Amino acid sequence: MRVIDACRQMKATTVKLLLISTMLAVTVAAAQHGKQHNDLTEEERTKHHRFDDAEKWARIFEDTTRNEWQKPEEVIEAIGIEKHSVIADIGSATGYFPVRFAQVAKEGRVYGIDIEPNLVGYLNARAVREKLPNLTSILGDPDDPKIPERVDLVFICDTYHHIQHRAKYFENLKKYIKPESRLVIVDFKKGELPVGPKDEMKLAEEEVVRELTAVGYRLVPNSANLPYQYVLVFDLKGE
Ligand SMILES: C[S@@+](CC[C@H](N)C(=O)[O-])C[C@H]1O[C@@H](n2cnc3c(N)ncnc32)[C@H](O)[C@@H]1O
Repeated sequence: MRVIDACRQMKATTVKLLLISTMLAVTVAAAQHGKQHNDLTEEERTKHHRFDDAEKWARIFEDTTRNEWQKPEEVIEAIGIEKHSVIADIGSATGYFPVRFAQVAKEGRVYGIDIEPNLVGYLNARAVREKLPNLTSILGDPDDPKIPERVDLVFICDTYHHIQHRAKYFENLKKYIKPESRLVIVDFKKGELPVGPKDEMKLAEEEVVRELTAVGYRLVPNSANLPYQYVLVFDLKGE
């Protein structure tokens, strides 16, 4: 299975659940009626898809064909990870980026935060297997990443739209970062793409910028240029 079919498969799984769930039937109705993103409620857009089958998701997220368009080295270069960096990857899943971060930040620390216990267990086992003592995965809450210390960088790839109540979430995130820290959001561009989730589930780059600037983050330039995703780097505007 191609890596980016992940989100499509995720959606297919959700549809099955929706058939037996009165509450989630709202989402099915939205999809059936072809609602555009802006017509979906926050609940419909950010509903949590389960990622509890770690082995299955590892085959998808870690598929080597992903490297062709994900360009992890280019992302790492653009966001400036260093040997001593302390990083939190929110929505770390099976470790695609956190493992690479830990290989660069050899004398720093990398926290992979996820809300799926099986994925947390998977990544911790991977860190041992790949001899990365500076990488630890931690179980977060959907509304609080519970990062154990203040970090230099918070990185969120293909996960931002899963977070509900984002204004509150990113306000709360400030207690885990330093005044000079950066927040990086990588997510799929709007429009029909060969990879990524259905268009109605995606958030436009402008919407992410609007949401985060409204709660005190400031967009700063970066050099990343990915074919299917935007890479947004924020700092705290003098807060
Ligand atoms: C599409 S996957 C992205 C995986 C990974 N970032 C990557 O690029 O391979 C989304 C991940 O975010 C996790 N997730 C969803 N909501 C979350 C939240 N509120 N806090 C932390 N993780 C969350 C899911 O369990 C899942 O592992």
